[in-house]
Amino acid sequence: MVTRAALLLLGLAVYSCRAEIAPPTLNISLDDDPEVRWAPLMEVFDADFLKKAAAEVIDSTVPKWVHQAVKPIVVALDKYIPQPYAGEIRGLAEHFGGSLSDIIILNFAYEVSAFCTSIIAQDKKGHVYHGRNLDYPHSVLRNLTVNLVFLKNGQVAYRGTSFAGYIGLWTGQSPNKFTVSGDQRGTEHWWNWWKNLVSAFLFRRSPVSWLVRQTLEEAEDFPDAVMRLSKIPIITGVYYIVGGVRAGEGAVITRDRTGPADIWPLDPVNGEWYRVETNFDHWRPPPTRDHRREAANIALNATGQDHINMETLYQVLSLFPVCNGITVYTTTMSAASDTYSTLVRPKGCRPT
Ligand SMILES: *[C@@H]1O[C@H](CO)[C@@H](O)[C@H](O)[C@H]1NC(C)=O
Ligand SMILES: *[C@@H]1O[C@H](CO)[C@@H](O)[C@H](O)[C@H]1NC(C)=O
Ligand SMILES: *[C@@H]1O[C@H](CO)[C@@H](O)[C@H](O)[C@H]1NC(C)=O
Repeated sequence: MVTRAALLLLGLAVYSCRAEIAPPTLNISLDDDPEVRWAPLMEVFDADFLKKAAAEVIDSTVPKWVHQAVKPIVVALDKYIPQPYAGEIRGLAEHFGGSLSDIIILNFAYEVSAFCTSIIAQDKKGHVYHGRNLDYPHSVLRNLTVNLVFLKNGQVAYRGTSFAGYIGLWTGQSPNKFTVSGDQRGTEHWWNWWKNLVSAFLFRRSPVSWLVRQTLEEAEDFPDAVMRLSKIPIITGVYYIVGGVRAGEGAVITRDRTGPADIWPLDPVNGEWYRVETNFDHWRPPPTRDHRREAANIALNATGQDHINMETLYQVLSLFPVCNGITVYTTTMSAASDTYSTLVRPKGCRPT
């Protein structure tokens, strides 16, 4: 077993030599009006490139009829979308020089088809680490990935990683409080667009990534974050993975639209020092062709609780097929030390 573990670690070390790239980091000041706070985006991204990239994502993801369905929302944006998001979307449309409906659709396009792996782990000293791979079948997202620092009164309120033009967060950290990542639950199909839109605009439910941002902004600590992420209605099912600052503060929340289906906490006292969540309910086996969960479990067992840290967690997240052909970026974070790192995978990962 020792030999196997050593070999595996050796193998992992080789993977980490790939050429990953740090995305740009932008300050977004929450003290600025929602309409203007995303202006820093335009200092880093070219408006024409953003317009083309958005069109590519929309054309390949969103059925044409959705464009029709969104029209009434465009006309009465403030009636359907809460602040500050309505203002931010309006501001982005102006910055992009694009149409309001395209920005709205873009902000819903990412709500589907994001495949991911999230890991929460605790070392022997009680330090909690949280890592995630974001997988999405659009190469252009690698060039849109951006680290965001949200400031309030000039201080860091929270951080996150997103795509230029997208106001929600799938990955983020409230310093010295908690970390969150979201993984898509199951396989969404095109007909769910209808349910998502109805859910969002008629029932005023929050897109899953907006709830992540709202939680980062408002929750006091890990228990408060778990409560909010479990209970507040959202437009579609999802997994929320949450890490805290104290030993034992880690959980995978399996969400239905209206509430929690399951909460799966770390249980380090009983040797369950990590949790792996991909895109399937943890109490069911994943589809036979999807080996990400198993590969991550094997690699974490081989690493061991004695050796888990930001670096070895990153190595586990670099192992094929945990990291695969459509992996866009990898984030590792730890709220207690306010450590947050995202690296883009320019070519994803391939088997070696
Ligand atoms: C972002 O904000 C921080 C904290 O106020 C500041 O130290 C840093 O210089 C800012 N960076 C940019 C690029 O404006
Ligand atoms: C990892 O280790 C745990 C605890 O020893 C064990 O229950 C589990 O089956 C192992 N997983 C894999 C994939 O080897
Ligand atoms: C996207 O990023 C890659 C590096 O990751 C770069 O080589 C390529 O030129 C970029 N493409 C565009 C359109 O900016």
